[in-house]
Amino acid sequence: KPLHLPPVVHIHPNQHPKMLPPSEVPSKSKVVWEKFSHQSKFQRKLYHYGTFPQHFSWGVSSSAYQTEGGWNADGKGASIWDTFTHKPSSSIPDKANGDVACDSYHRLKEDLYMLRALKVKSYRFSLSWSRIFPNGLRTSLNQKGVDYYNRLIDGLLADNITPMVTLYYWDLPQALQNNGGWYNVGMIDIFNDFCDFCFATFGDRVKFWMTFNQPYTIAWSGYGLGQIPPNVKNPGTAPFKVAHNLIKAHAKAYHTYDDKYRRSQGGLVSIALNGDWFEPKDVNVPREVVAADRALQFQLGWFAHPIFKNGDYPDAMKWQVGNKSELQGLSESRLPVFSDEEKRFIQGTADMFCLNHYTTKIAKDEEKDSPTTAISNQRAVAWGLRRLLNWIKEEYGDPQIYITENGVSTDSKTTWDDSARVFYYKTYINEALKAHDIDGVKVKGYTATSLMDSFEWLHGYTVGFGLHHVDFTNPNRPRTPKYSAHFYYQVIKNNGFPTTDDDKPLYGHFRKDFIWSTATASYQVTLEEDNIWDKFAHTPLRIFNDDNGDIACDSYHKVEEDVEILKHLKVTHYRFSISWSRVLPDGTTKHINEAGLNYYHKLVDTLLAANIQPHVCITLYHWDLPQALQDIGGWENETIVVKFRDYADFIFSRLGHKVKFWITINEPYNIANVGTAPYTVGHNLIKAHAEAWHLYNDKYRAEHKGIISITINSDWSEPRNPYKQEDVDAARRVVQFYIGWFAHPIFNGDYSPVMFRSSHCRLPEFSPEEIQRIKGTYDYFGFNHYTTVLAFPVDYGNLGAGTIADRTWLDSGSGWLKVSPFGFRRILNFIKENYGNPPIIITENGISERGPVDLNDVHRSYYYEKYITQVLKAYLLDGVDVRGYTAWSLMDNLEWATGFSERFGLFYVNRSDPKLPRVAKASVSRYSTIISCNGFPDPASGPNECLNPEPEGKWSINCLYNVKNNTETAIATSRNV
Ligand SMILES: *[C@@H]1O[C@H](CO)[C@@H](O)[C@H](O)[C@H]1NC(C)=O
Ligand SMILES: *[C@@H]1O[C@H](CO)[C@@H](O)[C@H](O)[C@H]1NC(C)=O
Ligand SMILES: *[C@@H]1O[C@H](CO)[C@@H](O)[C@H](O)[C@H]1NC(C)=O
Repeated sequence: KPLHLPPVVHIHPNQHPKMLPPSEVPSKSKVVWEKFSHQSKFQRKLYHYGTFPQHFSWGVSSSAYQTEGGWNADGKGASIWDTFTHKPSSSIPDKANGDVACDSYHRLKEDLYMLRALKVKSYRFSLSWSRIFPNGLRTSLNQKGVDYYNRLIDGLLADNITPMVTLYYWDLPQALQNNGGWYNVGMIDIFNDFCDFCFATFGDRVKFWMTFNQPYTIAWSGYGLGQIPPNVKNPGTAPFKVAHNLIKAHAKAYHTYDDKYRRSQGGLVSIALNGDWFEPKDVNVPREVVAADRALQFQLGWFAHPIFKNGDYPDAMKWQVGNKSELQGLSESRLPVFSDEEKRFIQGTADMFCLNHYTTKIAKDEEKDSPTTAISNQRAVAWGLRRLLNWIKEEYGDPQIYITENGVSTDSKTTWDDSARVFYYKTYINEALKAHDIDGVKVKGYTATSLMDSFEWLHGYTVGFGLHHVDFTNPNRPRTPKYSAHFYYQVIKNNGFPTTDDDKPLYGHFRKDFIWSTATASYQVTLEEDNIWDKFAHTPLRIFNDDNGDIACDSYHKVEEDVEILKHLKVTHYRFSISWSRVLPDGTTKHINEAGLNYYHKLVDTLLAANIQPHVCITLYHWDLPQALQDIGGWENETIVVKFRDYADFIFSRLGHKVKFWITINEPYNIANVGTAPYTVGHNLIKAHAEAWHLYNDKYRAEHKGIISITINSDWSEPRNPYKQEDVDAARRVVQFYIGWFAHPIFNGDYSPVMFRSSHCRLPEFSPEEIQRIKGTYDYFGFNHYTTVLAFPVDYGNLGAGTIADRTWLDSGSGWLKVSPFGFRRILNFIKENYGNPPIIITENGISERGPVDLNDVHRSYYYEKYITQVLKAYLLDGVDVRGYTAWSLMDNLEWATGFSERFGLFYVNRSDPKLPRVAKASVSRYSTIISCNGFPDPASGPNECLNPEPEGKWSINCLYNVKNNTETAIATSRNV
């Protein structure tokens, strides 16, 4: 006898759902589209941290035919699935069947072990009718079948797992099919007797019953499309007739429970309905909303409307079928009619709403902006679940909802390393949490489908939904937990997604002399001379819309305006680069362009006059090599080392008395890694940097007293599957290669062993003298960072590592850039630990958008806030020596190979206006507040002056626009007026 009985749930009859008015056409629940369809991608995707209520029912599911095997063991009768799969003409891949399946009939212990290990609160399984009544009728009772389920139920209860029992999961006894199956109205009483027996036999311990699983599928796939047994292909009438019987059979079984068992057993009875979400193609077109609503009524509403509303089919369905029947010249509708008595009998026959959900469709069409799954017509569209849950709440009187199936298939090549399934659960369960927490939907339970890979119906064993892999080639059917099993265990343990330490805010301040900066690169914002990017830009195919730097933001002629917006931002520094070819047109000091140099004088002077003083940060090389040098091999030609030093010498001598903050080279990784000779280029870049540093150190430092270093860029990298050592190793390799290629020689001396291994001996070697000369050529660690990747091993490429993004991370306008703030703190710690805790100046960090101009850039405010918080954590909590932060970038500018389509700016540059006005986006105020506060003041310590918004208009000049309420662009008054 069971050790633990679940608490008895007493449902008072008058708590039963009241009769609800029929749905309007389209239903009132179109408010769901109105509420959600206008969400921005940012709002839609923003991850929600929180937990479910204490007694949330976390479960996993299975069904009898898919898992049990023992198809004729101990007197079990054949079901329609046995007959179907045994046909020689079977079209199931490999003529697979469920004869053995997972062999659960003989492996109860293994199944219970898995359930215990997952620590689920519930297990949803189904009863094989023909195992209990071999010919479908009570007279054929097979006690051994009953014993199996008793052992299963008792085993679950002993482990404190609530059984959730499906009475009918598609495997009708063949003997009953021989009498017409569900087409036969006599099935109503026969099913009722089976249910009556099960309630009487198991109901002392089972408190959660579902009569049918997916009656829609039974009726439509079984009798309309004819895909599944009994393979009747009669879409015109048979499904409607069968569904009519199924609804009545359900209602009858419900009443049997109500009349005979509820008082003593106190359980719950419902039916598991499947529902996709349907999104209108265009929510602004009423016809499309009606179409999406009709699709919902034809699928979910077909069964839910009679049971949860008024005992009758939805009008949308009655009218559609009725009108079509009329057109066909039929005397009555193909949709049968319930009598008033039947309606009263059917209405309210569910104690909770049980929902199976897998995917979203655009009414009639498929959702394309989402990964396909192993079953080709299913796509992972997590937000559809939230909308569907809201629709159910609106449509069916706010019922308690149990998600009784949700999951995704992977193909059989994917055994236990199933990150696609982890992403699916991570996003879908989060949408269920949003529906619960934010929208107040009464989500009571969640069931992951399925416990283990099993016989997947028409797909045989070619796909699996399991949290556990089953080796179907091994007679012992060994079960192995997948990555998703570990993941789901954690979700259950945490009861959802509590705010992580990574995501918690931190209040505090940076050091008093913290550098707050923003940046641009010369080619990206100024009028340009002849350099490699010009050549690149004029090669049509490479750049969008023929965008090129010829006008860019025309900062060359707009120095005052740019300085003005910098003052508004309250940055202490401004980082820009010098265009080598503007000052030395052929790259050498043989020809000096004084006019070009004067532009930089003017810019520096204006900045200094504006008291952005003495904080000008100049990058000597931000990728725009003079074309003349490219013509003789560019960075592949070793002679460039001396040429770069001469160029640096020239700039130091002319500007060094005003500029105290230098970057030699920006992102050498991206210079080296694009060409055909990356290691040679990298080698020369390192040497060129070292020579420029020594030159400054020996010749200028004493007098100019500035600092000089290199700016290195790197993503952070995490293992795709944290439980897999190969992924952990790949993630480490990625970071060591990415950041270490340049940081290791400069900060530690020589290339790291990882670089030697990854380059397969193509890496040039430094002589011992060179190693010594390069080591230590830094005054700080200049660092550009944007995003994090997930790494896994591949057997090609230098690194043997592939990367992907976590699907829960917010997108940007750039495919490679996902919002993943936590990685910033980790890579700052990596720098601290691997490169001798150097002072770090973050020289770039930011986010892009693309598409129509929207000055309300919430994603950018969010990005800066979250990323800068991570920097603050690194500084305050981890002791990383962070000295400065630079927002990339000041204004929308030419983003290298993508032209103007990706926009990183705090300011929008209106290129349709010949004056090229700079317009502040909403994030300007967020960033300047963070600067004013030098971090994030603790709200608990009361209002802080630094949080006060700037009075409107004070700062504007005539070419500068301010944004009011994010909708209208108001022209601010001139500052001089
Ligand atoms: C046909 O559709 C209209 C609504 O479009 C409805 O009022 C009418 O009752 C329908 N006819 C039948 C026979 O169902
Ligand atoms: C490298 O540059 C030098 C001039 O600095 C030139 O004479 C030589 O031809 C170049 N090498 C190649 C391979 O272009
Ligand atoms: C850009 O400038 C054009 C021409 O002056 C103007 O019509 C348009 O509204 C501006 N766009 C924005 C977003 O300010």
